[in-house]
Amino acid sequence: MRILLTGAAGFIAGHVAEVARERGHDVLGLDMYLDAAHGPDATRDPAILPLDLRHDALDEHLADIDVVCHQAAMVGNGVDAQDLPAYAEHNDAGTAHLLAAMARVGVADLVLASSMVVYGDGRFTCPDHGDVPPAVRHEEDLSAGRFDPRCPVCGGDITWRLIDETTPFLPRTSYAASKVAQEHYASAWCTLEGARAVALRYHNVYGPGMPADTPYSGVAAIFRSAIARGEAPRVFEDGQQVRDFVHVRDVALANVLAIEQVADHPQGVTPYNVASGTPFTIGEMASTLAGAADATEPELTGDYRAFDVRHVVASPEAAAHGLGFRAQISPHEGIAQLATAALRTR
Ligand code: UD1
Repeated sequence: MRILLTGAAGFIAGHVAEVARERGHDVLGLDMYLDAAHGPDATRDPAILPLDLRHDALDEHLADIDVVCHQAAMVGNGVDAQDLPAYAEHNDAGTAHLLAAMARVGVADLVLASSMVVYGDGRFTCPDHGDVPPAVRHEEDLSAGRFDPRCPVCGGDITWRLIDETTPFLPRTSYAASKVAQEHYASAWCTLEGARAVALRYHNVYGPGMPADTPYSGVAAIFRSAIARGEAPRVFEDGQQVRDFVHVRDVALANVLAIEQVADHPQGVTPYNVASGTPFTIGEMASTLAGAADATEPELTGDYRAFDVRHVVASPEAAAHGLGFRAQISPHEGIAQLATAALRTR
């Protein structure tokens, strides 16, 4: 198949291109080399077209393309409200321009990089009220070291449960809002064009070539970069918050399986969680990484951030049934390898 890959100079798309070529596909990569991700002096790959989705002509590059794999995005949670316009411009507007060009040329299959952040605080079970979204965590609880959220109805204890793709959207950050928007734009485009999209909702992606930490980095890059500087990873809250760390090679495989099968899907957006299926606490992740690097033991700081969600863990079952995707690399193995893997320094 002939694939147009956006964000091709990025961490995840680089692995998608590699796996796609290994499976015999042709990949045409493009990237705008966003300063926030690559720095102003990034070395440019001559094989990647330097294009900005919002301003440059895309139609000629879409001729003969079977599937677009849209990875280009401004990532992270966003630092503060001043980041809102940049997320809207790059993620919302970039996607809208791409979809308009696909409609002009007649490319009707899209694989979209989405995220678990569309689910916000995730789903929990209350013994009395069943499946509930958790109540917002209050400052007085957090400052007293009570990090687990409560039932929004009775205020009682709740336990986290696996999130499936029917869970409602609840975006809590600029980035999350833009990922929900991308799925909505894709849905509108599918209706207008009779087209198909697969939205891959990634969990916490890590692996070789991930960028060294910036104010927009996730916890895996932050911990790995701290170790590279000879510092201890600083674990927030009580370290018991749960995530799912999924290796970038597995994320790339999920993308290529989606590229190969999106045309077999019904019209509209079909979402799939992309997760390892092995939940890990942040404390466990920090000690696995530090242990494998023979580095300083993690420091449990008790710090907290208002925008953090407590536990978010996805069910990987829909991707297994719909795409035949199951992660191959366990977080125990992959995170230990990350301890010595090279990071991209912009
Ligand atoms: C992360 C990504 C988000 C992505 C999502 C799913 C960022 C900033 N967040 O969200 O974009 O869509 O995964 O793939 O890229 N923590 C520490 N110490 C630190 C930093 C963080 O203990 O130095 C803790 C946080 O309190 C939190 C957990 O690690 O509990 C995860 O934080 P982080 O990776 O920033 O955000 P996610 O919500 O997992």
